[in-house]
Amino acid sequence: MENFQEQLKSRRTFAIISHPDAGKTTLTEQLLLHGGVIREAGTVKGRGSHKLASSDWMAIEQQRGISVTSSVLQFNYDGKRINILDTPGHEDFSEDTYRTLMAVDSVVMVVDAAKGIEPQTKKLFEIVAQRGIPIFTFFNKIDRDARPALDLVDELETILGIQAYPMNWPMGSGQILQGIYDLKHNQVVPFKNATAHPEIVEESMDEIELLRDAGNEFDQEAIAQGKLTPVFFGSALVNFGVTEFLREYLTYAPAPADMTTVDDQIIVPESTQFSGFVFKIQANMDPRHRDRIAFVRIVSGAFNRGMDVTLQRSGKKLKLSNVTQFMAEERENVQTAVPGDIIGVYDTGNFQIGDTIYSGKKNVQFPDLPTFTPELFNRVVAKDVMKQKSYHKGIEQLVQEGTIQLYKSWQGGEYIIGAVGQLQFEVFQFRMENEYNVEIQFEPIGSKVARWVSPDQLDEKMASNRNLLVKDRYDQPVFLFENKFAMNWFHDKYPDVILEEKM
Ligand code: G4P
Repeated sequence: MENFQEQLKSRRTFAIISHPDAGKTTLTEQLLLHGGVIREAGTVKGRGSHKLASSDWMAIEQQRGISVTSSVLQFNYDGKRINILDTPGHEDFSEDTYRTLMAVDSVVMVVDAAKGIEPQTKKLFEIVAQRGIPIFTFFNKIDRDARPALDLVDELETILGIQAYPMNWPMGSGQILQGIYDLKHNQVVPFKNATAHPEIVEESMDEIELLRDAGNEFDQEAIAQGKLTPVFFGSALVNFGVTEFLREYLTYAPAPADMTTVDDQIIVPESTQFSGFVFKIQANMDPRHRDRIAFVRIVSGAFNRGMDVTLQRSGKKLKLSNVTQFMAEERENVQTAVPGDIIGVYDTGNFQIGDTIYSGKKNVQFPDLPTFTPELFNRVVAKDVMKQKSYHKGIEQLVQEGTIQLYKSWQGGEYIIGAVGQLQFEVFQFRMENEYNVEIQFEPIGSKVARWVSPDQLDEKMASNRNLLVKDRYDQPVFLFENKFAMNWFHDKYPDVILEEKM
């Protein structure tokens, strides 16, 4: 039992968020190098494809005949077991990216120090900030010319609205990078082979004085609540400042947290009752293998292979025998796991996104995962009108699984599907064809700004071409505005109508 307690205290489960090209993959690779998972930089990803660790994952995929292309990296460092959950960006961006952020205990935000806060970082940050979990900032690429450090830190406060506490401070950047100043240990970490520029060092020391006088206080409680972000500078590419970052991160990042159920029970990780929730379901893209994997974040208790659990929503009893973990030392079937870990349960169609599973008798139900506001929309029809039955069944199941969001036009009930990333449409189309044998046709209606309105405030006359009225899967009215201007125009015309955004 003590072993269990120790194990769960050693877990650090996080995701890295960033705008594409800020260096998430490169930093991940450095962290894996630190953990001894890989031995050489450059072995992890097929660069250019921008898929995190795709070569490693593809190998596992082939080996197991399953698709785990975006999942979980696990390694040990300094007595801690680290789980990094991948949050795909680029063309792989989808609601899964957002949902994955519901399954982590902290987040590392990588920002390109030459660019500052970029749109995708801001979007992901906002989702994370709503959860109030710790956020650690890594300003990357200081081996190249960077923007002034004071400006970068200022952007955290002005653009993201989070207070910042620099843990270290850059002394120059690019050609004249001298090193970083570690504010906690009051020492310089010199950049190897730097040509001496004493004036740069002096300038940085002045800035550090300023920070000490006018900057935020170090406040561990504020960090834990996600109100203050510890800030680091470094270069993932040349592995400068990464070790220092990892060390401090592991000191201040939290072990697996408690979770509150819908009936306000607090489930503590140390509990003897096993519980967890499904935050992602990955279908197999290989038509020869129809299985899916439900990704379960363990919240409490120990997982043991073969254990019996209850699927809360249906009350169905399941035996968890066919379970996989990712990049663990043993690539076999996982035997045991603890809170903070992610297990992949082979699923034949029992699970939905947000499902709770638990062992024992006491009912546990975690809150539903939030719905995210989709930004892309397509009208959809079955190519073959004779296949209406499979078409409806397929849509219903895939919507429940969280693959896409379904809307219907207010009049006429045409199907409109919404997503946060283009990939979701492709997955939907592929699965409709392969699993339900229905070819579908999209009619793109492009990107829209979706806002929910209360039914009592709705007048159908408010709808027009520029503000399309639809209903969501719970029959709630939603306006799809052509753009923000159209939304503002609507707001000016109907100032009393409250427009609500999902997460
Ligand atoms: P991402 O996952 O966030 O999209 O970014 P990724 O790590 O793929 O990095 C994007 C580009 O930035 C890569 O260059 C990478 O080598 C470079 N990069 C990452 N970290 C640093 C850093 O600390 N310093 C510098 N100078 N560059 C960095 P690329 O040209 O796209 O690829 P390649 O030249 O490495 O093949």
